Amino acid sequence: MLRLEGLSCGHGPMRAVDQLELQVESGSVTALLGANGAGKSSTIMCIAGHVEIQGGSIFYDGSDIAALSPMARVVAGIGLVPEGRRLFSSLTVRENLVVGGYCRPRKETTSTIERVLGTFPRLGERLYQRAGSLSGGEQQMLAIGRALMSQPKLLLIDELSLGLMPTIIDICYEAIDHLKRGGMAILLVEQSTQRALAVADAVTVLESGRQVWTGTARQARHSSDMIDACLGLKSSQT
Ligand SMILES: Nc1ncnc2c1ncn2[C@@H]1O[C@H](COP(=O)(O)OP(=O)(O)O)[C@@H](O)[C@H]1O
Ligand SMILES: [Mg+2]
Repeated sequence: MLRLEGLSCGHGPMRAVDQLELQVESGSVTALLGANGAGKSSTIMCIAGHVEIQGGSIFYDGSDIAALSPMARVVAGIGLVPEGRRLFSSLTVRENLVVGGYCRPRKETTSTIERVLGTFPRLGERLYQRAGSLSGGEQQMLAIGRALMSQPKLLLIDELSLGLMPTIIDICYEAIDHLKRGGMAILLVEQSTQRALAVADAVTVLESGRQVWTGTARQARHSSDMIDACLGLKSSQT
């Protein structure tokens, strides 16, 4: 569903990611791991069309999408759960979901909201509360729900578990597993290697914008030392 070929991207003259090769198949999760500043968000935001591509190609569903606007990418089926969630905090939960479904026919809105609430029943209890009044975990559920409103075929998730309580993380990961089983392609950026490896099929590790490890999740589970090193965990202990 997604194939990055030698993707380089960055911010103005600055290069954040250099020649990244990565794939995400339908019905699977690819985890993109790496320490702070490694280039994970830049990669996600480049696929979504918000960060400038400096080289290489982004193939989505068989076509190169480099020329498409961010909105056209949403319409094509690329959903984004951005780092920090970026909800409309003064709007209600329901209004946030409606905004997420903006690119879909209006007659689908109610049924799509029902489906999202089936995935996250807790949002149903908060439907007319302002997004800004929700807990961090509920906000993350809403950010995922809002992305699902566009009925994506590829879901980009930046920092799923960061700052959330373990019980809420469980709920979010169950949702990811459910979406994957439903055939969605998911690119997951995570700080928590263990959590990501539990759901991922493929793993790529970035270090200072360079791809330093890639393989199956099974292989990754057997080389956790190496992944920890890539994540800078060893250096942070000294
Ligand atoms: N808007 C920006 N302008 C300039 N540099 C940026 C911007 N966003 C990120 N960077 C830089 O790009 C590099 C990669 O950052 P980022 O993609 O956010 O990493 P990660 O998500 O892995 O923590 C870092 O060196 C960071 O300082
Ligand atoms: Mg980031």
